[in-house]
Amino acid sequence: MTTSLAPLFTPQTFGTLTVPTRWVMAPMTRGFSPSGVPTAEVLAYYERRAKHRVGLIVTEGVAIPHPAAVGGDDIPRFYGNEPLAAWRRIVEAVHGAGGRIVPQLWHQGLERQHHDKPHTDACSVGPSGYNGKGELVGEPMSDGEIHAVIAAFAEGAATAKQLGFDGIEIHGAHGYLIDQFFWAMTNRRTDSYGGSLVARTRFAAEVVRACRQVVGADFPIILRISQWKVADYEAKLAKTPEELAQFLAPLSEAGVDIFHGSTRRFWEPEFSGSELNFPGWIKKLTGKPVITVGSVGSDIDAVKRLLQGVTTGDSTLEKALGMIARHEVDLVALGRPILADPEWVSKVESARAEVLQPVPPGADERLY
Ligand SMILES: Cc1cc2nc3c(=O)[nH]c(=O)nc-3n(C[C@H](O)[C@H](O)[C@H](O)COP(=O)(O)O)c2cc1C
Repeated sequence: MTTSLAPLFTPQTFGTLTVPTRWVMAPMTRGFSPSGVPTAEVLAYYERRAKHRVGLIVTEGVAIPHPAAVGGDDIPRFYGNEPLAAWRRIVEAVHGAGGRIVPQLWHQGLERQHHDKPHTDACSVGPSGYNGKGELVGEPMSDGEIHAVIAAFAEGAATAKQLGFDGIEIHGAHGYLIDQFFWAMTNRRTDSYGGSLVARTRFAAEVVRACRQVVGADFPIILRISQWKVADYEAKLAKTPEELAQFLAPLSEAGVDIFHGSTRRFWEPEFSGSELNFPGWIKKLTGKPVITVGSVGSDIDAVKRLLQGVTTGDSTLEKALGMIARHEVDLVALGRPILADPEWVSKVESARAEVLQPVPPGADERLY
């Protein structure tokens, strides 16, 4: 193994969570769970990544127990006997392979179409009825609806603990329900769930607190957040470090253990005047551990050269290592590279550059 890569492959402990390596499998929706039940192939898919040295698996987004949580019958559910029995088997398989696993608790809000499967009688819900394109497609959520969704997140958290998961990740990123509350474009409420950037964190903070209440102090809670949205890659919740500090404070205080700062290109500085990326700023401002993500390993030729001993200084692996060495980030997530190559992490660890598989077009349309 290339000695310089060793920091990525040593066990780390964050509070009550110990991971065998710093590599995280990024949450990726696959749609391979008919009627919301993960199949044996889904189990093998996660087990394979754990066996190949992914330290922490964040599952694809799973539907929390709320009728309007997701649109699509093939998205795995996190409620009901059959899906939960399947998830229990997945947890056991990942643990048997030496890995750790958390479910990504998901509510799509108004990114879901009204009356989409699996609950075709359910209207979609969002803070003010506006979708990410700024179109008015519904009514503002009532207080009762807000409390029902918070309760569904908490039920998901309790279920995760019962099934033996190693924690939870709450999906607060990319323009889905929690992020719809964060974003002024989709949150135009005039009550205490809307208004200033800090006021717009109220819903998320209540979700985190409700989850914390049911799982207790020792069960890791990860919150994934992003500036970018599926409907607008250029969107910014916080335009300055000061705004980001105000935004993060209520979330951190609510009980988040680890922040997952989602960006599309992890090497890009978040604000001018500093090289720190988005998760780097989150760690600096909250003091909490962070996961970085976004095109790590996308420069496959540079990665291959590095594994053959040719250092360029600017490959994505060297950049990630530099961030770890400077204590800017703690964990490194991979999405598309480990869809394309389930053995990506173990191949990098053993410097098997010649067999590293590039991301083929359509890699996300298969499950293996
Ligand atoms: C097929 C696919 C499905 C995804 N589904 C989710 C998801 O369910 N939840 C989420 O937070 N991000 C999702 N993402 C984003 C990834 O978690 C990750 O942030 C993104 O792919 C960037 O990492 P990468 O450059 O290593 O692929 C998805 C990405 C892909 C490619």
